[in-house]
Amino acid sequence: MDYFLISGGKRLRGVVEINGAKNAALPIMAACILCEGEVTLHGVPDLADIRSMELLLNKLGVSTTREPGNTLRLKVEDEMNCHADYELVRRMRASVCVMGPLLAKRGKSQVSMPGGCAIGDRPINLHIEGLKALGAEPDLIGGDVILKAKKLTGAELFLGGPFGSTVTGTANVMMAAVLAEGRTVIESAACEPEVADLANFLNACGARISGHGSPRITIDGVKSLHGCEYTIIPDRIEAGTFMIAAAITNGEIRLRNCKLENLLAVVDRLRHIGVNIEREDGDVIVSSARRLEPIEVTSQPYPGFPTDLQAQIMALLCLADGNSVITEKIYPDRFMHVAELSRMGARLRKEGPTVIVEGVKRLIGAPVMASDLRASAALVLAGLVAKGETRINRVYHIDRGYERIERRLIALGADIERLSDASEE
Ligand code: EPZ
Repeated sequence: MDYFLISGGKRLRGVVEINGAKNAALPIMAACILCEGEVTLHGVPDLADIRSMELLLNKLGVSTTREPGNTLRLKVEDEMNCHADYELVRRMRASVCVMGPLLAKRGKSQVSMPGGCAIGDRPINLHIEGLKALGAEPDLIGGDVILKAKKLTGAELFLGGPFGSTVTGTANVMMAAVLAEGRTVIESAACEPEVADLANFLNACGARISGHGSPRITIDGVKSLHGCEYTIIPDRIEAGTFMIAAAITNGEIRLRNCKLENLLAVVDRLRHIGVNIEREDGDVIVSSARRLEPIEVTSQPYPGFPTDLQAQIMALLCLADGNSVITEKIYPDRFMHVAELSRMGARLRKEGPTVIVEGVKRLIGAPVMASDLRASAALVLAGLVAKGETRINRVYHIDRGYERIERRLIALGADIERLSDASEE
C-alpha cells in the first residue's frame, strides 16, 4: 500500500494548474445515461473516483474512451442493465448519481443503498423523496433501493433536510426531471457550482433548466437529450487546498484555471487569517507573509465555507497566533483528522460539532493515518510545514480526489515522496 514521506519546512513557490472538478465530473458522467449520441467531456480529472464511475457506467452499457489531456468520450451502447451493485457503491458513494438518469431513461433503477462512511451518516432519503414526487415507486430489497416508473411527471418539491439541501440529491432529481412530462420546480435546491455545471451540461444536451445556482431550479421536461461537447468547471476544492498550501508554507503559488468567484467564502476567511490573494492575468496568486491570525470558520452549504475544506483550514489554523473556532454544519462528525493532527503537536479540543484550535508555534512530523479524502489533504498540508518527517499511510484516500498530488507539490518545491509498503495494511 502506498504512503507519503514528507520532510517539512520547504516554502512552496511556482505555478499549479487546477484540474476539472471531481464533484462536477461524476454526476455529469452519470447524466450521459440520458443522452442519445456521443458526449465528449474535457477536463475530466484522472482520479480513482472517476475510474470507479467509468467502471460503473461500463457495466450499465455506457462505453467510455479516455483521450490524452483529460478528455473522456461516453456513449450509451446498451440499455439493458439498471443495477449499480454493492461492490461499486461501497467503493464510491457518488455511484448513487446514476439513480435519477436510470429511472428517467430506462424506467427502473436498482442502486445499492450506500452505508455509513468515514465522514459520518450520509442518508439518501431526500433523493428518494424527490424521485417519488416525480412518480417513482420505491422499494428496498436486499440492501438495494429499487425505483420504478412507467412515466415521470413534473412536480413541485422541496429538497431541504436537517443540514441544508443535498448536492447529489438535487443532481438526481434534476437529471430525472429533464425527461419528465411537464414542469418540475425544486425548492431548496443545492446552489453548489457543481450542480450548476451539471445543469449547464444538461442544457447543452437539449434540456430546459433555469434557476440553477439558486435555491429554486425549474426544469421543463423534454422528450430526449442529445450528445454534446462540454468542459467541466475547475475544482474549487483543489484550488482551495493549494491556496492553503501556499499559506501554510509561507510560500507563493500562482493558480491557473481557478474560478475565484466560486471560492469567495474561502477567500474571505483566508484574508482574515492574513493570506494575500490577488488576481493577475486571469490567474490567482496566493502568498503569505507569516503571522497567521486566528478566526472563526463555520462550514455551510454554498456559498458558505465548504465542508470539503474544513480539515485543510484546520491544519492552517493549528499554526495561527491564538485560538480559532471551527464549526462543522454539514457533517457534524467529520473530524477524523483531529486525532491525527494532534499526533503532530496540534492543540485541538472537540466539543460536539465544534473544534477549538489553540495555535502552536510548530507542528512536528509523525506517522499518521489518512482516513478520508479531505482529512488526508489536511495531513499532507500539516506535513509540508511540520518539523522533521511525516509519514502518511493509506494515501489511496487522497488519490480519490487529487490527481498526482505529490508530483504537483514536488514541482512547487515540496519534499514529498510516494513509497510502497507491502506489509502495511
Ligand atoms: C456532496 O456529497 C459531495 N460529493 C461531497 O464531497 C460534499 O462533502 C457534500 O456534497 C457537501 O458539500 C459529491 O459531490 C460527489 P449532501 P453529497 O447530500 O451530495 C444530509 C468530497 O470530499 N443529507 O449534499 O453526498 C447529509 O447527511 C465529498 O469530495 C440528508 O439528510 O452530500 C449531509 O449532512 C465528500 N439526506 C447534508 O445533507 C439526504 O438524502 C449534505 O449532504 C442527503 C443528504
